[in-house]
Amino acid sequence: MLGIKNLTIDDIELIFETASNFKEIINRPIKKVPSLRDITIANVFFESSTRTRLSFELAEKRLSADVINFSSSTSSVNKGETLLDTVNNILAMKVDMVVIRHSSPGAPHFLARHINANIVNAGDGTHEHPTQALLDTFSMRLHFGSLKGLKVAIIGDILHSRVAISNIFALQKLGAEVMVCGPNTLIPMHISELDVKVELEVRKALEWCDVANILRIQLERQQIKYFPSLREYALYYGVNRQLLDSLNKEILIMHPGPINRGVEISSDVADSDHSIILEQVENGVAIRMAVLYLLAGSPSVN
Ligand code: CP
Repeated sequence: MLGIKNLTIDDIELIFETASNFKEIINRPIKKVPSLRDITIANVFFESSTRTRLSFELAEKRLSADVINFSSSTSSVNKGETLLDTVNNILAMKVDMVVIRHSSPGAPHFLARHINANIVNAGDGTHEHPTQALLDTFSMRLHFGSLKGLKVAIIGDILHSRVAISNIFALQKLGAEVMVCGPNTLIPMHISELDVKVELEVRKALEWCDVANILRIQLERQQIKYFPSLREYALYYGVNRQLLDSLNKEILIMHPGPINRGVEISSDVADSDHSIILEQVENGVAIRMAVLYLLAGSPSVN
């Protein structure tokens, strides 16, 4: 599971169908199933994470897999060990599957070419975050029944967002129309080649869409200033209650997290009845259970 780009619609439908079954199971009093009892999974995180890491770990435990967690900040990476050596040493301990988050785009693809184990991309730099896109589109599907013709605006720091790229691929495969919106400096130069609409005014994007997927400004990936200040960003691109109330329509509010309250989204929008931000997190466990379960049943490709 390296990205959404190469998945077929049938792949996505199979993941959704499997996730629906797991969603039902994890809402039972006994949430655990023995499906991955003989499988060991390593969560290898070279970047900070709350939702994705915990969600994968919980998904693995709900499936009865054995789990080990690796965090680069407390590892021998600090002594100069390479990515490939690190993962090969983990695999030598009879690990079957690797879930990896890395700041370098393509790191999971590089591993997949060099090791004989299933790799799950938990976010590679500014490239892809496939399980986030799957849980986002799964959440939309649960809400609307179908994504065909659904208008989804992705608003915020598109330039540095792996969530945006994976969402664009997943939404288009499922028949949704996609718009990206943000300051010109945070819109990738060739984004329209992905057949998405581009809008620089957040009000117009909100007037157009059924769903607003609001993204955080990724200051940690920005080496230069793309806008004068966070205050100014919030003023021109922040989604707040006053703006939504002035539209005379209801929009489903989504955010992959972590939220910067008062910057890209106000608290009264993030915590409103129109927001499904915590439903997204809940659905993330079922989606990751589905991905791990389906991969465990497939042979790894060298
Ligand atoms: N949405 C997401 O990837 O959050 P984390 O960075 O906390 O995992």
